[in-house]
Amino acid sequence: MRFYVETLGCQMNKLDSELVAGLLGQLGYQPVTDVAEADVTILNTCSVRDHAEQKALSRLGHFNHLRKKNGTPAIIAVMGCFAQRSPELIRNKAPFVDIICGPAELHELGRLISQSLLQRKADQKVSAKIAVSDFRKIRSGQEALCDELESLDVQRPMVGEGFQRFVRVQRGCDNFCSYCVVPFARGPECSRPVDHILEEVRRIDRTGCKEITLLGQTVSSYCQDHQGQKVGLAELLCLVHESCSIPRIRFITSYPADFSPAIFEAMAELPRLCPYLHLPAQHGSDRMLKLMNRRYTIKQYLDLLEQGRRIVPNLSIAGDFIVGFPTETQDDHQQSIELLEKVRYKNCFIFKYSIRPGTLAAGKYTPEQEIPEEIKSARHSEMLQVQDRIANEDNQTMVGKIVEVLVEGTSKKNRADKQTLSQLVGRTVEDKIVIFDGLETITGTITKVRIQSASSLTLFGEVV
Ligand code: SAH
Ligand code: SF4
Ligand code: F3S
Repeated sequence: MRFYVETLGCQMNKLDSELVAGLLGQLGYQPVTDVAEADVTILNTCSVRDHAEQKALSRLGHFNHLRKKNGTPAIIAVMGCFAQRSPELIRNKAPFVDIICGPAELHELGRLISQSLLQRKADQKVSAKIAVSDFRKIRSGQEALCDELESLDVQRPMVGEGFQRFVRVQRGCDNFCSYCVVPFARGPECSRPVDHILEEVRRIDRTGCKEITLLGQTVSSYCQDHQGQKVGLAELLCLVHESCSIPRIRFITSYPADFSPAIFEAMAELPRLCPYLHLPAQHGSDRMLKLMNRRYTIKQYLDLLEQGRRIVPNLSIAGDFIVGFPTETQDDHQQSIELLEKVRYKNCFIFKYSIRPGTLAAGKYTPEQEIPEEIKSARHSEMLQVQDRIANEDNQTMVGKIVEVLVEGTSKKNRADKQTLSQLVGRTVEDKIVIFDGLETITGTITKVRIQSASSLTLFGEVV
């Protein structure tokens, strides 16, 4: 039996897809890269904005179309955050879907797939199967988080491209930012045991991996007991660094209110911990932050970054912003622009607010308090322009410098006419993207590149 997995959404989903591929591999299924060849087609979905859900529904429609066209009886499964949040909506809009499985039920997916395939083999109608979690029970302490889910991470067979890997350190989120679906889609926050994380890191190290990224929605609040001590993110980073020789260690995403300066100290002291911080502010106005249920002020945020830049002089900072949250005034918006100017992010993800049913902000505001689409779009473009100018200015200062680049592969615009050299893409320790010509065989190595020119998103150079 052959399976195909397509992943939408964030790194958490990428890791989940890898675990599912590993699980199915262990059960004897073969991965394929062409959906038309698959007996089982899996879509891993995101629900963070409306656009993500629409994309998922459109891909499912496409898979169903292919299934009909090819006359193949492939099983179609939906996993991920959209599956957890809206199984009824998926049943409604895509009634042909055979399996719906939430991110906290992934250990069930293998069983659901084999049941469906057996039904199909016996010429029975494949019955719809839904596995989603009741997080309300878990939040009220009636159920412990599942050991089987933990064992999926523990037993991961390390499939696929191996020189960059994710390691989950946390599941879920308890922050309930008023716009966000993640606490509903991924359940309560829980930190994985230190031993499990270190063991996974050691296994990854033995594969010759070059970069690991510790993953959590709010990694900065990582907290676990280990050998009688409380281990927070700073201590965990030290332990990870000690346990492996992987040249690059990163972590995402941090939450400003629980970020400890000890993490900056760790960055300054540990040579293989990258000087890179993804610390979303979401907005530049304290009034908006309050409505968003973010537990910090802009002053606290800026003080934290100032401290970070003092302790780690080459600290590179990435951020996220939301524009057009309900009641946002022109003055609030101006404060977000000011924050861009003050922080000078390496890069920023800037999103137009999307109402998410079931979140705290949905239903709280009158239609008049919602920001019209044209204003959202105008503010969004303005933010993008400002950020583009800043990143471009900062990138120009890189011209002439020599940087170490982890080569990730050929770039999208690879020039096919070049016989020996390809256009390669890689990243610096600060997570800056570098494009240069080189032999494709150096993919997965760390190479020195001299920067010759720069744009807002990319540095261009030549191998030294
Ligand atoms: N845990 C991370 C972010 C997870 S979601 C953090 O707290 O920073 C990724 C990003 O999507 C968020 O940082 C936010 O900027 C954006 N986002 C989340 N919900 C959104 C919504 N309803 N509309 C628009 N953007 C949203
Ligand atoms: Fe969503 Fe806020 Fe949790 Fe991030 S911290 S995942 S934005 S609820
Ligand atoms: Fe999307 Fe879920 Fe990630 S909603 S952003 S895939 S945690």
